[in-house]
Amino acid sequence: MTKSVNDRKVAIVGCGFVGSSSAFALMQSGLFSEMVLIDVDRDRAEGEALDISHGLPFARPMNIYAGDYDDASDAAVTVITAGANQRPGETRLDLVKKNVAIFKTIIPEIAKRHYQGIVLIVSNPVDVLTYVTIKLSGLPLGRVLGSGTVLDTARFKYALGQHLGVDPRTVHARIVGEHGDSEIAVWSTANVGGVPINSFCELRGFYEHEESMRRIAEGVKNSAYEIIDKKNATYYGIAMTVKRLCEAIVRDEKSVLPVSNLMEGDYGLDDVVLSMPAIIGRGGIEQKVPISLSEEEHHKLEKSAAALRAVIDELDL
Ligand code: NAI
Ligand code: 2OP
Repeated sequence: MTKSVNDRKVAIVGCGFVGSSSAFALMQSGLFSEMVLIDVDRDRAEGEALDISHGLPFARPMNIYAGDYDDASDAAVTVITAGANQRPGETRLDLVKKNVAIFKTIIPEIAKRHYQGIVLIVSNPVDVLTYVTIKLSGLPLGRVLGSGTVLDTARFKYALGQHLGVDPRTVHARIVGEHGDSEIAVWSTANVGGVPINSFCELRGFYEHEESMRRIAEGVKNSAYEIIDKKNATYYGIAMTVKRLCEAIVRDEKSVLPVSNLMEGDYGLDDVVLSMPAIIGRGGIEQKVPISLSEEEHHKLEKSAAALRAVIDELDL
């Protein structure tokens, strides 16, 4: 039976580090009044629901509970964080086989309930799993999106803010392409408060542009590896990313964010999911925003697409 969407309800599938941290961030956000937590390990979901609920007297009233796919069928947003995470030395793409198998058990459960909400993919490799979800669910394209490079973009803004000694919210720069090793820092349009990035760097006394750009972009790209080496998983940055995306959706903010979405001739690319900017609102991906890229950035985007396409070609969907 098709249930109409409850705008105040969110579901989280997968209650490990990322799912539980996202649930905690969402509990504090006041965006929802109901949150259902789903995990193959039911005790885990129940434990997280109880633990997070104990913070409610310091936040806003909300019903948080462990449930199943029937409970999730009217959620405005279903966030999928289920699946294996990287061990030190593993890449995101190394997770593909295990996590596609897990998605084959999850996505049909959502689709067969004629789900009307938005599916937000977080599990890795996020771009490939967004592609898999589009294919397995049959949902309209705009209603399936991946967190993509929203997190990498936050890391980029943070790193530039630290380097230049400014509020990262006034840094306008983004990472696009794969959420992973082939990601691209879009330097050609980066600016701080409307001032082109190199001019702003000079204003702050930095002149070694090439060396700084290389170091900062590499640092951003490798930051998940650094964190995983030190504490085995990343979860707080992505939890804030999930909160930001849910906020854009349920508050119908029409925010432009770089999310994983299907290329259909965009940037000359087809049938591959990449993280590129789009307007995010109540309908999910409401419109793609074609950004200008330098020739070098466009070439890197083609390489990123080819890397992801090679992984998709190996899948049995
Ligand atoms: P974790 O191992 O702590 O948690 C995974 C959870 O998924 C476990 O609780 C497990 O029981 C559950 N699960 C497994 N199969 C399931 C199924 N069929 N149905 C429901 N639940 C199931 O892993 P962690 O650290 O939470 O990472 C989760 C995923 O998020 C990984 O793929 C990781 O790479 C990804 N991730 C993505 C980020 C992004 O920016 N997109 C950032 C950080 C992590
Ligand atoms: C991250 O970038 C591992 O994809 C995860 O934190």
